[in-house]
Formats: sequence, structure tokens, C-alpha cells
Amino acid sequence: MATTINTLRSMKKSGEKFTCLTAYDSTFAHVASASGVDVLLVGDSLGMVLQGHDSTVPVTMEDMIYHTQCVKNGNQGALIMADMPFMSYATPEQAMENAALLMQAGAHMVKLEGGDWLCETIALLGERGIPVCGHLGLTPQSVNKLGGYRVQGREDAQANMMIEHARAMSDSGADVILVECIPSALGTKLTQALDCPVIGIGAGKETDGQVLVLHDMLGITPGKTAKFVKNFLQNGRSISEAITAYVAEVKSGEFPGNEHGFE
Ligand code: KIV
Repeated sequence: MATTINTLRSMKKSGEKFTCLTAYDSTFAHVASASGVDVLLVGDSLGMVLQGHDSTVPVTMEDMIYHTQCVKNGNQGALIMADMPFMSYATPEQAMENAALLMQAGAHMVKLEGGDWLCETIALLGERGIPVCGHLGLTPQSVNKLGGYRVQGREDAQANMMIEHARAMSDSGADVILVECIPSALGTKLTQALDCPVIGIGAGKETDGQVLVLHDMLGITPGKTAKFVKNFLQNGRSISEAITAYVAEVKSGEFPGNEHGFE
């Protein structure tokens, strides 16, 4: 059966963890969704992973539309979430126009980075039938403003503000909140504070779902990987066995371990 936003809501209620992996093409979308991944994220991380840029800032709407179409063609029933790229949602009207293009390309939900300034946009998209995931914490499109890829929300004031922003986005109709690179304790607080499903990456083990970048969890990303990454392509596993192991470890609570989280 296909995964929908209702599936994720039920999983949050029942306490069953759900899994998300990035996918950028048809073959990996097929393998990941057939291996039990619930959500395929057409992440703008493709700017770094596929295109070799040093940030996601250069990614365009054309790139995202193309890769969303590719993922849709291979998908076996996962929910497809597509990133809206840098500056494609600077105003609510611009967001609606560009989100519509991603939905027509095959997305079931769009993801936007930012805080409560997005509330009007989230409400508008929701009214027009477009589900939204709000991305908080480390928001890679703002790397130049943040001054690097760093853990966010370590100070109380920043952590409380993040919870307030997440609540405001959820109250405006955000269907999912994704949090990246925050202390594990804050990941737990946010998950408990929100009615909508929360997906974490480097946000501890208590979020409702987990996401990783596909190339990171296959251990093929060049250079040093982040603390929250685990290489599942070990012990002679095939790619589909590695993805199946990721799904099993998230569901059982084995991944992420305490060593993958931040204080
Ligand atoms: O673009 C992406 O892959 C993402 C994940 C890091 C969550 O947004």
C-alpha cells in the first residue's frame, strides 16, 4: 500500500518509527522504496552529491523538477517529498507557483527551509492542496548566513525559539517538521511538543522518523562524513540489503545510537 501523510500520522500515534532516504534517480528510488523506505526525499543535497557543488545554493527549480520526475518513475509506493530550492519560495506567490511544478513532476509533499516567516506560505499551500514539510535546525540553504554547517539550538534561547517556530509552522498547517543537526534532547522535546510527525537527521533517536542522505549511508560520500552518519553497506551486503538493514535498525531503535547524536 502506498505511504501517505495519514500513514505517517498513524505511525507517530502508534510509536512505529518511519524511514526516509534521499533519492535522486529512478533506479535508487526503486531499490529504496522496494526495500521498505517510507519516504523518498528528492533533496537539494543533489547539488553537492550529484553536481559536486560545495553547498545547495546553486540548485535550480529545473534541477528539482527533473530529479523529482526521475524518482517518481522508479517509486514503488513511498511518499515522495521534494525540496524547494534556494530562493524558490521567497514570497508566498512564488512558493505556490514553484510548489505546483514539483507536485506536477511527481512530488506528494514539498519541503521548505526556515522558521515562522514561512507560516503564511505554509497556510497558502495547504489551502491549495499542497502538503508541506518545514525544515528547521541546520538549514543548509542558509549556510552562508550560519557561517558553516554547525549544530543548532545548543543555547536555551535558540532551542526555545526553535520550538516556538516549529509550533507556529505546525499550527499554520505544516504536515511534517524535519529537524537537522540539533541536540538529541531538543529533538525529543520538539517531537513531544508537536502533533505532526517529526523527522530527524542528527537529532537523536526519539524523533518519529529518521532521514539520511543515500550516498552517506552507503559510505560512498568522499571525505569526512557527519557524526550522525552510519555506513550500512558493510559485511558484504548488497545495496538493497544495506537499505533493508537501515530500515530494520530505525524500526528497532538500534539506529541512531547515542554516538550518532549531539549534546
Ligand atoms: O537535501 C537534503 O538531502 C536534506 C536532508 C539533509 C534532510 O534536506
